[in-house]
Amino acid sequence: MQRSEPTDIEREVSSVDMIVSKGDAEGNITYTNPIFMKISGYTQGELLDKPHAILRHPDMPKVIFKYLWENLQAGKEVIAYVKNLCKDGSYYWVIAQVRVAKNPDGSFRNYVSTRRCITQSAKEKISALYASLIEIESAKGIEASEKALEAFLVENGHTFETFNTCMTQLNTK
Ligand SMILES: Cc1cc2nc3c(=O)[nH]c(=O)nc-3n(C[C@H](O)[C@H](O)[C@H](O)COP(=O)(O)O)c2cc1C
Repeated sequence: MQRSEPTDIEREVSSVDMIVSKGDAEGNITYTNPIFMKISGYTQGELLDKPHAILRHPDMPKVIFKYLWENLQAGKEVIAYVKNLCKDGSYYWVIAQVRVAKNPDGSFRNYVSTRRCITQSAKEKISALYASLIEIESAKGIEASEKALEAFLVENGHTFETFNTCMTQLNTK
């Protein structure tokens, strides 16, 4: 997948912006709302049927996506901070709520992600956390990174069981 070289230009996500996308079972994009295109700089044609990883920023630790997929596949909703890469190499921070949508008969319909802006304080805490997780991943691997993520949750009065609550609370401080 062709991705741009990341720059240090940040795109602003305002408090009224709600960036929505939907994905199939493999995570390929099946729907994006207009604000998604506006912020990412891609046209709908460039996004549809592409993996969501088109947005992946190198500052994102692997463990966050491991946690995301493990929980989605278990039918659980995930709330997580994501730094996303735009078409021109700029980036934006969001808090994403990702869930499974089901058909009336209970079968899988799609995955839905709703992304909103984050506070300065959350941005500072999560950037520092993610930078340390990336360092740990390259030095010691993903299991060590998972342990470090757990330690962060515990420091904030949580565990993996209450991951979503911990992330939500960090965005209100
Ligand atoms: C509905 C949905 C939304 C997603 N949104 C993003 C996103 O905004 N940014 C991102 O980097 N990955 C997102 N992902 C995760 C990607 O599918 C992928 O796991 C991630 O980008 C890591 O890619 P990689 O394993 O190829 O490095 C989303 C997945 C789903 C199912």
